[in-house]
Amino acid sequence: MAEENRVTPFPRGIHTYALRAGRMTESQRRSFETLASRYCVPCDGKPVLDFPAIFGREARIVVEIGFGMGISTAAIAESDPGTDFLGIEVHTPGVGKLLSEIEARGLRNIRILHHDAVEVVAEMLLPESVDGFHIFFPDPWPKKRHHKRRLVRRPFTELLVSRLKPGGYIHFMTDWSEYADFALAELSSTPGLSNVSGSSWTERTARRPVTKFEQRAEKEGRQVLEIRMVRTA
Ligand SMILES: C[S@@+](CC[C@H](N)C(=O)[O-])C[C@H]1O[C@@H](n2cnc3c(N)ncnc32)[C@H](O)[C@@H]1O
Repeated sequence: MAEENRVTPFPRGIHTYALRAGRMTESQRRSFETLASRYCVPCDGKPVLDFPAIFGREARIVVEIGFGMGISTAAIAESDPGTDFLGIEVHTPGVGKLLSEIEARGLRNIRILHHDAVEVVAEMLLPESVDGFHIFFPDPWPKKRHHKRRLVRRPFTELLVSRLKPGGYIHFMTDWSEYADFALAELSSTPGLSNVSGSSWTERTARRPVTKFEQRAEKEGRQVLEIRMVRTA
């Protein structure tokens, strides 16, 4: 990738994830071993992503950062077969789980990148190549000293904007109100973004399932807050 596109959005050694020890179930391991070569995009050498070559067609591209177990990813992709979805996740059991869902549901419009999304966005995505980013329930990093690990913060948000086509969107949601306020401030102050709901939260999107994070939030009396920003021309 050209030198001018190389940006370091987080200081060296700061990661937005904590690698969990979580064991893989037998079925996740089997899916990983048998299906990764078919649905995981190789990232050795961090090649620039050529979406038409990866998916075998020209279509809208949505990139999901940190899909967890891929529950929303699979449901949204199944309901929108005309759009191609690239899910990025570092947690191996989650990759195994989404692989098995892709196979079980016969989904042709999902590929997975098993890697740090910050590096993928910075080094493997071309400018103006993405129609939307989904960032659902990212790790909230509630302690003040960990705020620097939050995914939705500048200058990373500026990098996301540069990868969006004009009119492309960022869809964020969290059940941590303090992170929601923080993300709203970071996104609102990022040049080139406009909030589709004025300066506030967006209505719950109908076409997504309730994930375990949302279920837990509801049980514990926390509201899920969503933000939808669009790249202005
Ligand atoms: C709290 S979980 C939410 C999972 C999912 N989006 C959901 O709604 O169920 C956040 C996920 O983001 C992943 N993650 C965080 N930073 C990441 C990064 N830089 N690259 C890839 N995955 C990341 C974590 O591994 C974790 O699985």
